[in-house]
Amino acid sequence: MNSSWNRFIYKLWSPVYDVFFNKGPFLKARKELFSSLPFSKGDRVLFVGVGTGADLKQISLSELNVTAIDFSREMLEKSKEKADGEKVVFLVMDAQELSFPDESFDWVIGSLILSVVPDGEKAFKEMARVVEKGGGIVIFDKFTPSGKDLSLLKKLIRPLIRLLGTDIGISFEKIISSSESRVRIKEDRGILLKGMYRKIVLERADGGKI
Ligand SMILES: C[S@@+](CC[C@H](N)C(=O)[O-])C[C@H]1O[C@@H](n2cnc3c(N)ncnc32)[C@H](O)[C@@H]1O
Repeated sequence: MNSSWNRFIYKLWSPVYDVFFNKGPFLKARKELFSSLPFSKGDRVLFVGVGTGADLKQISLSELNVTAIDFSREMLEKSKEKADGEKVVFLVMDAQELSFPDESFDWVIGSLILSVVPDGEKAFKEMARVVEKGGGIVIFDKFTPSGKDLSLLKKLIRPLIRLLGTDIGISFEKIISSSESRVRIKEDRGILLKGMYRKIVLERADGGKI
């Protein structure tokens, strides 16, 4: 993946993104994802690559301290509309280089972002860095099944899908390999399209909040 291309392609996606990724099965998966998360009043929550803000509709913005970052101004503008006047901090920022101090958030949410950024490992390391000890990292994304190769069809269409702004050939196990000592997987299960999309909940290993 390539940052300049991402910026261009997500500008194009911004007016129509919700029609595809915030309706039907995607909306159902998002509802399921957030319904089980034990947020506490006042928790500091960071959305990494918030996009059009589809996830913002699934939480109580008035009870949480929410920060949302994205690389694309156009996607972020759409996201602002979803905040319905609630106080949310929106920032243009690169997920691979977050400009927050260590341990700034109780929760870090990464929906459909690790398969989009050029360097998922780097972005995940940043998520693990800015989350509080004992805090939670929540990932909703599509990954290759653990220990399995991509099917021939997926190998063939992968370059085309990358042009659309995402990668179907990313391994989550590889992404977390260099951060494994910092995080512990609490839940990892298929949530959409026969397990292609997974809900993964992790905690900073040096704590015990979730
Ligand atoms: C597939 S969308 C996901 C949006 C949203 N999280 C969701 O669940 O619908 C990917 C988002 O990542 C953003 N993005 C791409 N590269 C990025 C980067 N390096 N840093 C931050 N955001 C990035 C895009 O602008 C886009 O809004």
